[in-house]
Amino acid sequence: MSRLVILGSANADHVMSFEYLPAPGQTLMSKDYRFEHGGKGANQAVACARLCQAGNRIDFICHLGADGIADQMCQSWHDDGIHSDGITKVNGLSTGTAMIFVGANGENSIGVSLGANASMTTEALEKHQTLLAQADWFLVQLETPTTTVAQALKSAKKHGANTLLNPAPATVLGTEIYRWVDIITPNETEAEAITGIEVCDENTARLAAQMLHQLGPETVIITLGSRGAYLSCSEFEGVVAGVDVKPVDTVAAGDTFNGALMVALSENLAMRDAVEFANRAAAIAVTRPGAQRSIPYRHEL
Ligand code: RIB
Repeated sequence: MSRLVILGSANADHVMSFEYLPAPGQTLMSKDYRFEHGGKGANQAVACARLCQAGNRIDFICHLGADGIADQMCQSWHDDGIHSDGITKVNGLSTGTAMIFVGANGENSIGVSLGANASMTTEALEKHQTLLAQADWFLVQLETPTTTVAQALKSAKKHGANTLLNPAPATVLGTEIYRWVDIITPNETEAEAITGIEVCDENTARLAAQMLHQLGPETVIITLGSRGAYLSCSEFEGVVAGVDVKPVDTVAAGDTFNGALMVALSENLAMRDAVEFANRAAAIAVTRPGAQRSIPYRHEL
């Protein structure tokens, strides 16, 4: 049995669909409106829970508001088999909120109000040290305070976990955090934010990956949308091709990729095979609307 621990955000996603994304100063009428369970951390935890084999344990560490949305989310995560020891409802705060615009070709733009996610401080993290110490695999992103992310990575790594950082959304970090990261998984924009290299083809992906290795991570995976992912590790260097699908909504595709990747690695798949598995999971997610709603189950892969 493996213990997979995810630390991160949970958001109430308010989603509107358009023929194209509104430009600055432009008002467009949406074709529809949906309320969804989202947040990068929660999406990744759900992906782990739906894709892992029976017997593994998934823990999610997060802060929610003390509101009805939090209750709905907790019920849904419970139904997916996520353990709730790391979930705290914080009095006086609201659950995080995301406003999401989706264009006709599945692309999106997102604004987030962190709400309770911002209250996951290093002090608040203290009570989750046991979960971090028990983790075999640990995954985190950047919608919680970066000092907490750094502290959690350090703690999990010191206790022997394999650590994954999905540096999303793009954020400038101090260099120390990368020392505690085994596997880093930026998309092209995030890779550019960290390295300054515009990733537009295989050559620039290789250069960005080299720079990311120098910061610390042994394995670099730059996700390339429908083209798949650029993998740079001791056994392989190059593009692992994605699956060709017609995208409907790309929200949570990256989160699905990250959760699936951690599940596959926890089952001892070789790195390239794990990236292929993650590509397939993400490809299914983009063919469906919504965040957690779009994440596939193991039998669908
Ligand atoms: O990665 C997708 C997620 O980003 C959405 O669910 C939204 O909540 C934002 O956090």
